[in-house]
This record gives sequence, structure tokens and C-alpha cells, in this order.
Amino acid sequence: MHSIAQLLSCFDPVTGNIAGVPATQRRLEDLRGCFADAAAYEAALAAGNPLLYRVASVEPAAGPGDLHYGVGCLMPGKIGAEYFLTKGHLHSWRQAAEIYIGLAGEGVMLLEDESSGESRMVPLRPHQAVYVPGHTAHRTINTGTMPLTYVGIYPAHAGHDYAAIARRNFRCAVIEQDGHPVMIERSELLKTLAS
Ligand code: F6R
Ligand code: MN
Repeated sequence: MHSIAQLLSCFDPVTGNIAGVPATQRRLEDLRGCFADAAAYEAALAAGNPLLYRVASVEPAAGPGDLHYGVGCLMPGKIGAEYFLTKGHLHSWRQAAEIYIGLAGEGVMLLEDESSGESRMVPLRPHQAVYVPGHTAHRTINTGTMPLTYVGIYPAHAGHDYAAIARRNFRCAVIEQDGHPVMIERSELLKTLAS
């Protein structure tokens, strides 16, 4: 039988910290190439290298039926008009789905079907669960003014594939327009920035 420490984790829904579990930290310098506005990115980096997010992951056994989960905490802010975001990834085991549950703050999930490129912006808020199907690139975006915390639960075999996103980024970006989050084609945003 598992010990109670293996069965129970205690997390803080506001900070996203899990007692006794170290968190991976991602700073602005780790997200080079993710934001459309390169000039705004370099200016923000020159002004400091803020923490964008932390993820504490509970990844015990990795058998075929096992589950892993992580608690994320993504800071509020923007680079140009684009809200702070996670790197985003596909699962290495493409069939692996994931469930995200909002804990605090206000944000969205950007979902992109790997084969069609079809994109959806789905709200991520407390008391809401977002189902991320397999074969779907997913990125978390903080559209609010306080840290966005959430839980993500995924098959132990899911793995992270960051390479495809690092090569081509997401097709769409989420920007603030008139005080609201709007999903637009990244190519359109780049055209606007160049003009
Ligand atoms: C796990 C998962 C989340 C993310 C976390 C950070 O499959 O989707 O735990 O790992 O939100 O985002 P990335 O991994 O894209 O930096
Ligand atoms: Mn995932």
C-alpha cells in the first residue's frame, strides 16, 4: 500500500506551491521567441528578467495506468499587447489528453489541433475544468491582474514535446484589445507590428 505522503499532496491555491515539492521556474529569458512583439520582449528583458511562471509537478509511478499532475502559477503581465503565457507543448505521447482546473485568477487556454491547426481560446477560471484532447498543443495565458493558478492532470506517459512549438509557435496569439482578451492570427499581429 502507498504511504500517506504518496497519496496526499497539499497545495496552496493562491501561490500554486505544493508542500515539499520543488517547482520549475520559467523566467522571461526562457520564453525567447514565444511573443510576437520582439522589440517589446527585448525591452522587457533589458529592464529585468521577471519570473513568468512556476510549475510544481507530482510525478510518482509511471506505469501504463498512472496519472501525474502539476500545479502552475502564471504571473499577470504583457509583452506589448500579448498576455504572459506558458511555453506551450504537445504531449510526446500524442494521444494523451489532460484536464486543467482553474484555482485562482483569470485566464484562458489556447488549444491548437496538431493536424488541422484549428485554434480555440477556452476560459480557465476557478471552478472550471478545461478538457485538452490528445493531439492538441496547449498554452496557458493569464488575462487577469493577479496570478493565475491551475492544476493539470495527465497520463504518466504523456511527456512534453516543446520542439514543434519552439519551431513554429502557435498559429494564434491572445492579445488585449479594448481591455478584453482577443485571439488573433499571429501572422496578422506580425503584419500590424511591422506596419
Ligand atoms: C503538463 C502540463 C502543465 C504544463 C504547465 C507549464 O502536461 O500541461 O503542467 O507543463 O502549465 O507549461 P509548459 O509545460 O508549456 O511550460
Ligand atoms: Mn500538457
